Amino acid sequence: MNVVTTINELRDHINSLKSEQKSIGFVATMGALHKGHLSLMERAKQENDVLVTSIFVNPLQFGPAEDYEMYPRSLEKDRKLAQSQKTDILFAPVVDEMYPRPMFNEVNVISGTDVLCGKSRPGHFNGVATVVLKLFQLVQPNNAYFGQKDAQQVAIIKNLVKDFNIPVHVVACETMREEDGLAISSRNIYLSDKERLQAAFLYESLQRVMRRIEEGITDSQLLEKEMNVFLKKHTDAPIDYAQILSFPELKTIDKIAGSIIIAGAVQFTKARLIDNILLHVNEMEGGNKYVSYYDEI
Ligand code: PAF
Repeated sequence: MNVVTTINELRDHINSLKSEQKSIGFVATMGALHKGHLSLMERAKQENDVLVTSIFVNPLQFGPAEDYEMYPRSLEKDRKLAQSQKTDILFAPVVDEMYPRPMFNEVNVISGTDVLCGKSRPGHFNGVATVVLKLFQLVQPNNAYFGQKDAQQVAIIKNLVKDFNIPVHVVACETMREEDGLAISSRNIYLSDKERLQAAFLYESLQRVMRRIEEGITDSQLLEKEMNVFLKKHTDAPIDYAQILSFPELKTIDKIAGSIIIAGAVQFTKARLIDNILLHVNEMEGGNKYVSYYDEI
C-alpha cells in the first residue's frame, strides 16, 4: 500500500493508473475506521482494479459548535486497517494540503438540505459536497462507495455528480450494524453504557414504522408521531428528528407510497446518532407491501 500525503504524489499515481487503464474504486473517509468502512473497501476492491482510500477530517463540514477538534483521529490504526482491506493507495493529506488558502469557491447545495441533518447542521452539506468534489477531481474514481447510513449525504453526492456531469458511479452500500441493530458509527465510542443500551432503540423505532406500514398505515404524520413517542419512551436523549420523506427527493409526504426514507436522529450527551431505512412501498389490496433496497438510490 502506498501512503500518500500530497496532491502531487497522488496525481502521479492516478496518472499512471489511468495510463494503464485500471479502474479505480474509491472510499472517502474521515478515519476512525470501523466495520462499516471496511465493508465499503472490501466491495470497492472486489469491483475495481485498484482501491484508493482517503482519510481526511474535513473542517469545512463541521459547524462552529460541532466536534471537529474532538473528532476521533487514529491514523496509525487506520493505516493498518486500510492495508488489511488491500487498499492500494491511502491518501491522507493534512488540512493545509487540501486547503492551502481560504477557498474562493465552495459548492452550495441548494436542494435537499432543509430536512433531516441539514436542518440542524447548516452548511454541513456544502462542506461535504465541496470536499467530495475536490476528492473526485483528485482521485478520478470510476466507482465511489458510501454508506447508506448517511442517506442524505448519498442523495446529495448523487445530485452533485449529476449536476456537474462528474464521470463517477456513486454506490450506496448497506449499513453495517451491531448485533442489537445499532448502526456502526465512529461516534458510538462516545456513548455511556446506559446510552449504548438506549441507542439500539433508534433502529427499533425505524423497524416499528416499517411494520406499521406493512400493516397498512399510510398516514406519515401519524407514523412520525408514533416514532417520536417510542423514542421518547426508550431514550432520555433529545430527538433531533423522526421523519418520513420521499427519497431521493427528500420532500415531505402526507401519504406513504413509492420510494421513501424513514429517518431518525437522537442527540446523546457526546454523540449525535442517525439511522434510516429506505423502502419502496407498493399499494396492495387490503394493505401495503414493502421492498427494502439500498443500491438503487
Ligand atoms: O461520510 C464521511 O465520512 C464524510 O462526510 C466524507 C464523505 C468522507 C466527506 O468528508
